[in-house]
Order: sequence, then C-alpha cells, then structure tokens
Amino acid sequence: MKHLVVLTGAGVSAESGIKTFRDAGGLWEGYDVMEVASPIGWAKNPKLVLDFYNQRRKQLLASLPNLAHKTLKELEKRFKVSIITQNVDDLHERAGSKNVLHLHGELLKVRSTKNEKLIYEWTKDVQWGDKAEDGGQLRPHIVWFGEAVPAMHEAAKIVETADLLLIIGTSMQVYPAASLIDYLPNGKPVYIIDPKKPNGVLQNHVHFIEETACKGITTFVDMIGEK
Ligand SMILES: NC(=O)c1ccc[n+]([C@@H]2O[C@H](COP(=O)([O-])OP(=O)(O)OC[C@H]3O[C@@H](n4cnc5c(N)ncnc54)[C@H](O)[C@@H]3O)[C@@H](O)[C@H]2O)c1
Repeated sequence: MKHLVVLTGAGVSAESGIKTFRDAGGLWEGYDVMEVASPIGWAKNPKLVLDFYNQRRKQLLASLPNLAHKTLKELEKRFKVSIITQNVDDLHERAGSKNVLHLHGELLKVRSTKNEKLIYEWTKDVQWGDKAEDGGQLRPHIVWFGEAVPAMHEAAKIVETADLLLIIGTSMQVYPAASLIDYLPNGKPVYIIDPKKPNGVLQNHVHFIEETACKGITTFVDMIGEK
C-alpha cells in the first residue's frame, strides 16, 4: 500500500464549528493568542488561560467530525494513512483514524506544571488549585507559542516515508510545523486543500484544491483516482 501522509490544521475542523484563528485576524475566539497560548500569558494570568481552554474543551465536546475527517478514515482502505495534525481537537480520532500524531498537544489532556510527563486524560474544567499527584498545578497539555515541539522529529520521519502528501486547512505560518513539507522526498506529489492559498508552498508537484475541507476532500479522492 502507498503511504499517504496528511498534515492538517485548524481548517479541517472549521466545518465542525471550531474556528481557525488566522481567519479572525489573529484572534482565537476573540482572544489575543499570546495572552492565552504562550508561557508569558500563563505567567501573567493563569486563570484566564485555564478559562479559555475550559471553553475550548466544552466546545469540542459538543462538536462532531465532518466529512473530511471521515473520508480520511475511509482512505485507510486504500492507503497506509498517517495523520500529523496541528490541531488540539480529537476529531480525527473520533472519525476512527488509526495513526494520528498531535504536534501541538491535545485539549482533552492536562499535565503537571512540575513534570511535563505527568499527563492525565481530562474532559472537565480545570480550576486554579487543581493539582497533579506531584503537587504541580494542572495546565493544558498544549504546546504553546514559544515552546518546543517534542513530536517534530517523529513527524519529520513520517513525512520522509510519504508517497504523497495531503495538506488540509493550515496557513503554514506556524513553525516548525510548516517546515515538515521540506522532508518530503523529491518528486513526490503534494495536494493542498484550502479556500485560501497558503504562502510559501508553491513549488513543483503541488496540486492546489481551492475549496473547503469537506468539498475539497471529495475533489482529492477524484483526482487521485485509482492511484
Ligand atoms: N481545531 C483546533 O484544534 C484548532 C483551532 C484553532 C487553532 N488551533 C491551533 O492554532 C494553530 C494555527 O495554525 P493553523 O495553520 O492550524 O491554523 P490557522 O488558523 O493559522 O489557518 C487556518 C487555515 O485554514 C484555512 N481554512 C479556513 N476554513 C477552512 C475550511 N472550511 N476548510 C479548509 N481550510 C480552511 C484558512 O484559509 C487557513 O489557511 C495550530 O497550531 C493549532 O494548534 C487549533
């Protein structure tokens, strides 16, 4: 089976009702991202950060996978599919996809501020004062702006073995995630589904599908035909 590697961003979940943030002028659900998604924001006002992610978690639990998530699951019948997502939602998993790597963490997990390996599954709100077993305040298990991306090495290895790369709904502005395309072996085709052309990826072998995720995924399946 050929290896289809899929890199997804916030746009793949937009039609599930979860907003992207570039489309709203750099605000994430009305918040300045540096206030709610950076170590500086956390140091300044942790209660605001916890509240922001409590809202995001509630919104996620009320959302459902869309046709794009579901079609990626279906493609496992024809390809070895590896999904690398920048998203913190679990909609790929809920659609049934088997291989999902989260680059930027997961909304339904929290961890100790004292030990980043002490991670818990979490669906409720997190309050200031909720502690891990080691006494550390719980924080969202999210990679914030300015923090290292521990899954990058594994993600790069996956892209190196791709026969084709599909990119859905990412502005390709968040690094190092956006640099993953550079690990694709020479000559392997790239397909991009996004209503707006992302910057900096307009090289050869790129097939641009200028549509939303749900419409574009059907176009992609038609384009690859029997490949
Ligand atoms: N669902 C989520 O988990 C979620 C939501 C918002 C932000 N984030 C975080 O914000 C960061 C933002 O980077 P990013 O590049 O993923 O998002 P982004 O907000 O920077 O870019 C979103 C991209 O999706 C495109 N888009 C908008 N509607 C679309 C649709 N219906 N179908 C397909 N594409 C559509 C936009 O044109 C844009 O290129 C990520 O690291 C992520 O962790 C996550």
